Amino acid sequence: MNNEIERETGTDSGAEFITRWVCSANHGFAPYAQEELRRQFGAVKSTMLVPGEVFLVSLKAGQQQVAASLRQKEPIFLRHLFAVQWEWVSGEEEPSGNSECGLEELARFLRADARLHGAKIAIQTRKSEQAVWEGSAAELKEALQARLDGIDAEIVVREADWIVSVFAAKERILAGITAPADNLSDWNGGAIRFQREEGQISRAKFKLLEAEAIFGIDFSSFQEAVDIGAAPGGWTSFLLERGMKVTAVDPAKLHPDVLRNPRLTHLRKNANSVKFREHQFDLLVCDMSWNPKLTAKLVTELLYALVPGGTAIVTVKLLSKKPMALIQEITATFEASRLQIQRAKQLFHNRDEITLYMIKY
Ligand SMILES: C[S@@+](CC[C@H](N)C(=O)[O-])C[C@H]1O[C@@H](n2cnc3c(N)ncnc32)[C@H](O)[C@@H]1O
Repeated sequence: MNNEIERETGTDSGAEFITRWVCSANHGFAPYAQEELRRQFGAVKSTMLVPGEVFLVSLKAGQQQVAASLRQKEPIFLRHLFAVQWEWVSGEEEPSGNSECGLEELARFLRADARLHGAKIAIQTRKSEQAVWEGSAAELKEALQARLDGIDAEIVVREADWIVSVFAAKERILAGITAPADNLSDWNGGAIRFQREEGQISRAKFKLLEAEAIFGIDFSSFQEAVDIGAAPGGWTSFLLERGMKVTAVDPAKLHPDVLRNPRLTHLRKNANSVKFREHQFDLLVCDMSWNPKLTAKLVTELLYALVPGGTAIVTVKLLSKKPMALIQEITATFEASRLQIQRAKQLFHNRDEITLYMIKY
């Protein structure tokens, strides 16, 4: 067994530290998350733990420095990370498949941390497909929790003071204790989950629910919205639920449940042939799943209908092999049209796209 403990106090100034992180991005987008880290912290040494999604990275920066830097320049593709402070590597005398996997020692490590006593802690476990831990991630959590009996802490799922993150990889278990704000997301691996409602019209609705939670947008403060590319009506139904009057633009049919709402107007037209009153809306949303440059052109041509100070939420399809350059081009187009970018982020519910949250000035 080979245990390595890198407990960092967080009082570092940075440069002399090498810290290690388990980082997650949406499937296939890990290379872009790695590129974001390289741009912020220089050369990045990394190992894939789950192909295209989860990787272990060494950064030449202290734990606090990394957290502060990521808060200042929020990444688009890096969805979640945690600092590795404890590691168990399966050795010859305890080969892969060993059922203990250093958990007793991890529990001792956690019990020895004064910050956890009397605190609310969340235990977030994940694993790769062929992990040294053979059970499920939920069983890993149970096994660790069972060993924490002596700890005077409340185990919670949400609103924790501290998150204990555990990742079981092929030959190792990696763990760390971090403040939720330092992980980019307080959801396990940044995978924010919503319950599917009965009669839910489309999965696309999860994107707006996530935008509401992650960007902190108060949708109930808007009066009148336009939804461009609205069918079958997941986003429109969300906006109606938040109390808005909604104009949905789409040549395709909307779901009958949405059509019943008296606050809805459906324009069954191509969005490049509609006319609105100047400043008619205080919210514009667009989820057309279309060529990103044409989408940006179409949205900017409709901006006369958005009141100054109004909000725009637009998904941008990443068709190109160079998403970073494409995003730069599209955001520049919006910025030149009096839209200030508040956030650009690949939400967990975005597939090959990102979501832009913008305000018109
Ligand atoms: C991904 S779906 C939108 C899903 C929707 N947000 C929801 O929650 O149900 C994309 C929609 O954009 C529409 N669309 C594509 N190009 C359009 C255009 N030029 N004008 C209006 N609608 C368009 C398509 O007809 C399609 O219904």
